[in-house]
Amino acid sequence: MSTPVVRSIADLRATISRLRQQGHKIGLVPTMGALHDGHLALIAAAKARGCKAVATIFVNPKQFGPSEDLATYPRDEAGDLVKLTAAGTDLLFAPMPEEVYPDGFATSVAVSGVSEHLCGATRPHFFGGVATVVTKLLLQALPDMAFFGEKDFQQLQVIRRFARDLDIPVEIVGVPIVREADGLAMSSRNRYLTPEERLIASHLPVVMRDLAEALRDGKSAADRIVAAKDRLLAAGFDKIDYLELCDADRIQPITAAKAPCRIFVAAFVGRTRLIDNWPVL
Ligand code: PAJ
Repeated sequence: MSTPVVRSIADLRATISRLRQQGHKIGLVPTMGALHDGHLALIAAAKARGCKAVATIFVNPKQFGPSEDLATYPRDEAGDLVKLTAAGTDLLFAPMPEEVYPDGFATSVAVSGVSEHLCGATRPHFFGGVATVVTKLLLQALPDMAFFGEKDFQQLQVIRRFARDLDIPVEIVGVPIVREADGLAMSSRNRYLTPEERLIASHLPVVMRDLAEALRDGKSAADRIVAAKDRLLAAGFDKIDYLELCDADRIQPITAAKAPCRIFVAAFVGRTRLIDNWPVL
């Protein structure tokens, strides 16, 4: 049987309340669709924790800037439903934009500190849009747990922050990055890459792994970060938004490795912006 689909908040709440009455825990997996094995790992994590897995697919206009890829963001609900069904997903919530943002919608959730650097600096609208929609999804579903990938590590930390600050009664669970055989982090945007660009993209995890290994000596990172950027540009990357060593909790830049910390990168191959991160200590 195919995973059932609901499109209204009322139907989502009614279905979840039936599952709860049957004694089940609810695990929410928010996505924007165009699903791949990285998303399906979140479903698997929800099931592994004994939850009924409730996926959401909503391409959230509030987290796209005016010059970004909202109109062309890949959409394939029929294909996604096949994958969700095969993964044993218990329910899909796929609302229309009017259901999420009806006329007169005027509220946004703004998170300071953890959201200000990296993607917050290069995409100013982004984390406000994510925080607003994820707050709504959490309040609509009221799950026991919600699952997010470490692929978007800063996003995960932003979500942890506002869930705690707003006393939303949910456990936020981070799930490790799922990578292709050559190490490239799986992403819905990888499908934009031409075969030539895909080859260039494969240098990203190699450069990050080498940099992470080098930085574990705890000495100054600056020169080695410059060298890693040069390596990416030499490999064919067109532009680097950022490549930085940051504290993994506060997402603030640090000059030398000190646990817990990660390398964070956002870089363009052609017109496709890839993000990734790698643990150092
Ligand atoms: P989307 O990019 O579709 O990602 C949905 C979830 O899948 C996120 O938690 C993301 O971190 C996770 N994910 C994506 N690729 C992954 C990979 N290779 N390995 C592990 N997890 C991966 O992130 C969003 O959507 C949106 O911002 C959203 C949270 C749904 C709010 O609109």
